[in-house]
Amino acid sequence: MFVLLLIAVITYYRNINYKTYDIQVEKSYFPEVNTAAEIEALAKNLVSEMTFEEKVDQMYGEKNHKSLRKLANNFLIAKRFPHIYAGKNERLHIPPWVLSDGPRGARVMHQDVAAVTTFPVAMARGASWDVSLEKRIQHVIAIEMRANKVNLGATPCINLLRHPAWGRAQETYGEDPWLLGEFGLATVKALESHNVMASPKHFALNSLENSRWVVNVEVDERTLREVYLPHFKKTIQQGKPAAVMSAYNQINGEYCGHSKRLLTDILRTEWGFEGFVNTDWGYGVYDGVAGVKAGLNVEMPSQSAYSVKALQEGIDAGKITEQDIDDIVVGSLKTRLKYAFTGDEQQYPLDKILLPEHIALAREAAEKSMVLLKNNSVLPFKKKGAKKIAVIGRLADVENTGDEGSSDSTPPYVITPFQGISNYHKTLGNQVILNDGSDLESAKKLAAEADEVIVVVGYTREDEGEYIILFRDKMVASAKAQKLIGSKGMGGDRDSLRLRPEDEQLIEALASTNDQLVVTYIGGSAIDMNPWQDKVPAILFAWYGGMEGGNALANILYGKVNPSGKLPFSIAKNEKDYPYFNPYIENISYGYYHGYTLFDKKNIEVAYPFGFGLSYTNYAYSNLQIAEPTVTANSNIQVTIDIENTGDMAGEEIVQLYVGFKNSAVDRPVKLLRAFDKINLQPGEKKTIPLQVSAQDLAWYNPQTKKWEIEVMDYELYVGGSSATAELLTGSFKLE
Ligand code: BGC
Repeated sequence: MFVLLLIAVITYYRNINYKTYDIQVEKSYFPEVNTAAEIEALAKNLVSEMTFEEKVDQMYGEKNHKSLRKLANNFLIAKRFPHIYAGKNERLHIPPWVLSDGPRGARVMHQDVAAVTTFPVAMARGASWDVSLEKRIQHVIAIEMRANKVNLGATPCINLLRHPAWGRAQETYGEDPWLLGEFGLATVKALESHNVMASPKHFALNSLENSRWVVNVEVDERTLREVYLPHFKKTIQQGKPAAVMSAYNQINGEYCGHSKRLLTDILRTEWGFEGFVNTDWGYGVYDGVAGVKAGLNVEMPSQSAYSVKALQEGIDAGKITEQDIDDIVVGSLKTRLKYAFTGDEQQYPLDKILLPEHIALAREAAEKSMVLLKNNSVLPFKKKGAKKIAVIGRLADVENTGDEGSSDSTPPYVITPFQGISNYHKTLGNQVILNDGSDLESAKKLAAEADEVIVVVGYTREDEGEYIILFRDKMVASAKAQKLIGSKGMGGDRDSLRLRPEDEQLIEALASTNDQLVVTYIGGSAIDMNPWQDKVPAILFAWYGGMEGGNALANILYGKVNPSGKLPFSIAKNEKDYPYFNPYIENISYGYYHGYTLFDKKNIEVAYPFGFGLSYTNYAYSNLQIAEPTVTANSNIQVTIDIENTGDMAGEEIVQLYVGFKNSAVDRPVKLLRAFDKINLQPGEKKTIPLQVSAQDLAWYNPQTKKWEIEVMDYELYVGGSSATAELLTGSFKLE
């Protein structure tokens, strides 16, 4: 027994203190190599010098015995994400590349690092609609990744939010391909500017969690092109990321990791992608030969389908050639060597982590992402001094930054809602009282006596997030049965869009106790508020707000910051209005319509439209001008709109432009988002805002001709502060 224990302790210690490697090239080995062409030639040369085994070693993360032990000890026990050194070849002086997740902060940490800056989740940042803010955030994440000795960021996650119950909704930016594309592109550009290889994921159609390793997504060509791929296309074509991560799921009967159509025909031939494809971790490729044929470069994090045996057998059977293997290896090596050779413009020492400006940015991001959905003259709280403030709820004083899967991040501290509100009042002499809401009577009494009541409800990592289970068989069984078999894993898709019963009971109990009450929701996606939304005077979506979320919340509640976030998804009136969703499923069909395009098309009234959010001031839109009434397929539609801040508080407004397709000869959405901007307006200030749409972005994908086509017709143009058609200013233009 003692011996076993000793072995376990030694194994743990060794795997926690694993050997580290440099990710830069030692240039003295390659004195002649400088330009991109020389690096590419070097990659080919190196591959020609490799044995077959060495080539295959380039095609997966780390050897199983190393990677699995390292992951198990670090990820599962020490709760740290280790460096997996992929593609290292000491004989040929090839340094490894190392991946870190990072949707809300650098995930992999250097052994001397205890914490990193933790931002609000991506969905929150999507709600900021602030692309330049996202760029600043991604610069910080990239800097902290580099400081942690990592050179590939497994971000951005730009899978589309098809249904709000999707467990990983919090990792992406919303339901709309245009919004996703803008955020994806911003992320890639920021990461790459720090010599971090970006790897947009999960390519493609990964919008369901609990069956992700098995589910077959059926999708027709037009839906694929117009709804599920445009954001990948924009991010990849314009951002030129070094890598792409393939998805676990199947597309029309074929695993994404085996899909030549996806990984070669579309990604490389059509879009011109020149980087390498790495699989999602574990279960990302099942058949090595199929992977090679598809153009899949690297299996992560360890070796299974890309084994010497399987690949050699494939060659012997004439299914693939050794040249195919060479191409796959050169494909990744030439790309990653470029990064390993590139000198940095700045240094990334460990003390670049958690700089004061990084933390300030985490707070700014949380402030700019909160969405005020309802406000019956409650916020900002107005009474000054001698106040009693009640912060009530199970989650009121919980450190709650999001899911526990790959997107987790380790902050040095987390300001909870209660702490943030307490911090705010510290010097004001007000009394802030915490009540966890478990005893409804005491909560009610406190709420009735208080001057202001903040009810904190929502979810934690137990309710939603990446679905953490170890064995695929379990997932297969549940998918087959179309219901959960055995015990549920951690996180995952939500079974219901309602809040937990205890939260709903708490809201019910407190709703009428005080008219100065706000329900603050913590979570990553839409919820069903039907049972209570009409009973409470104010609702604020605060998301998983990162390490500074509580301080940001206080700044919003007390009007230090004017809320400016808007929903990056629609919230339906009834759960049944959304597209079909089942977390446990073998086959699912993703239709052409979802989100606002679905609700617009079917004329279904929503609870809160896509793009909606209130402010403490008001904005008046007027004078929509379209420069040219008639445009051609190669021009841009230039639009201006006047926006005035008619209230008495400075604020930021998100202006949205949608194009309408009423006159289309084919079935098209009523309207599609094609431009947006976030602008700052002082009280009484009026600005003329330019917006533009490229006529190319009016195209639809014709599956018959296999081409994007621009219809010659009259288009409508809608501009305003949300997607609610009735509230938008309208105009039109003709395309000739
Ligand atoms: C997730 C990916 C992530 C990878 C590495 C997988 O389980 O699906 O998003 O990048 O793990 O952590």
